[in-house]
Amino acid sequence: MKRLPISIVCSVLALLLVSPQLAARQLPPYGGAKEYVADLAARRAQAMTTLGSDTVLVMWSAPTRVYSTDVDYEYRQESNMLYLSGLEQEDSILVLIPGAKSKREWLFTRDYDPRREHWNGHTLTAAEVTQQTGVANVMSLGALDGFMTALLGGTTPTAAPAIDADDFAAFFEALKQSKARLASTVGVGGGPARGNAGPPAPPIPGSNAAWLAGMQQKATGLTLFNAAPVFSTQRQVKTAYEQKVLRRSVEISAEAHAQGMMAARPDRWEYEVEAAIEYWYMKNGAMSWGYPSIVGSGPNATTLHYGKSTRQMKNGDLLLVDAAANFQGLTGDITRTYPVNGKFSAEQKAIYEIVLAAQNAGIEVTKLNSARADSVKAMRDVITRGLLKLGLITEAEPGPAQDQQVSTWYTHGPIHGIGVDVHDPLGANFVAGSAFVMEPGLYIRLQALDDLLKPAPGRGGGAPVEPTQAMKDFVEKVRPMVIKYKDIGVRIEDSFLMTDKGLERLSAKAPRTIEEIEKIVGTGK
Ligand code: GLY
Ligand code: MN
Ligand code: MN
Repeated sequence: MKRLPISIVCSVLALLLVSPQLAARQLPPYGGAKEYVADLAARRAQAMTTLGSDTVLVMWSAPTRVYSTDVDYEYRQESNMLYLSGLEQEDSILVLIPGAKSKREWLFTRDYDPRREHWNGHTLTAAEVTQQTGVANVMSLGALDGFMTALLGGTTPTAAPAIDADDFAAFFEALKQSKARLASTVGVGGGPARGNAGPPAPPIPGSNAAWLAGMQQKATGLTLFNAAPVFSTQRQVKTAYEQKVLRRSVEISAEAHAQGMMAARPDRWEYEVEAAIEYWYMKNGAMSWGYPSIVGSGPNATTLHYGKSTRQMKNGDLLLVDAAANFQGLTGDITRTYPVNGKFSAEQKAIYEIVLAAQNAGIEVTKLNSARADSVKAMRDVITRGLLKLGLITEAEPGPAQDQQVSTWYTHGPIHGIGVDVHDPLGANFVAGSAFVMEPGLYIRLQALDDLLKPAPGRGGGAPVEPTQAMKDFVEKVRPMVIKYKDIGVRIEDSFLMTDKGLERLSAKAPRTIEEIEKIVGTGK
């Protein structure tokens, strides 16, 4: 059969108003659906205990986003929705009623559409939604408004499956006592009014916030409640199932880094290393990155989130690679930095050794129930001593002047959580179930030095602040050393899990010491 030219296919698509969507590529759950679905149910049960019986939660799936004209970006579920439902299908709304006796969990999903079925693939049936999520009560999206209007008005909604007359009694009692809450993770206003003065702007018509405001008006004694902090607290501690999936996710990413190292060599392009890494994700069922790969050689290594991967690597370059897979909805975060010719220069080695020692110091003090701030301090202390030794800072006394000098080269926080999001919630202390990175980095940019000589923007719109004489002296004193180390960017980032048994480095398979790196770089095809 002759193939239709693509232009005709596209205009047919436009006529039918069906976008060629890349559906989220959900594979069968790692370890088996039963374990995953049980874990999802436990997550919802925990959230409902926290929310309490006076509260009803409404949670929306993420919207699809247009890439260009009639092509969409690959679908990405909203993180809390994914965390609670496991559902990757758009146009889905989760309603949790902790005060209900039996019908506490509801999902409202879109109807079967024969045209969409043919163009974009299968829409889950109610039975399939239940099977994938463990949520027993599934209704059509169109039934949501009527359901919620009845519920918030204090009457039992007409629903399928039918609801017993006294099932929602506890919530109705909360309504009567004017202590009922309608919770969501959506901001309830249109944001603060201009200049932060006056009441918040009204919600944008048609938005979820406007829907919430409309529902609130229909009820009496109902307050809107932002439940985002509930989920950021809960997500700080990974469940046993999440830990299992995250271990595998980070293992794939660590192996991918080794593949990237093997593929690197002078005269190759940054995108060739990126391809080797992302090939490994796909080959191992990860299907996508958790965040766009950062593959920066030479001066690009000093751009924290360099995303182009378009430079041809040169002999003598360092290559900074920050990349990790999204495997089954969980993402680690790993960075490795290595010489593309397989041999660190003396200058590269000097910076690398400081960053490596800093990370080792962080690992050393990171224990079950230890404070995150202690690990941050341990890393910063090693960085400070190292910079002093190399002459990249001059202030030996701790204090604001030293802090400012250190921050010229040590420019980002070294610890954050990982999980559903690459920057996932993390508590102030490491508890069993904390998943996080330690990622010290140094970036020697001549531009950073020149910027110190420019007037700094004044606080709160005040007049620009001229550099002090001390700052000018610092700049002149360290300039020769900055020229010596310029364009060297080194970040070493590993993904960790805290358990009852102590700290576990999930990314252990990614070569990290100078010896390990020099042995592997350039050895692949
Ligand atoms: N990959 C982003 C970060 O390191 O935080
Ligand atoms: Mn990170
Ligand atoms: Mn990273």
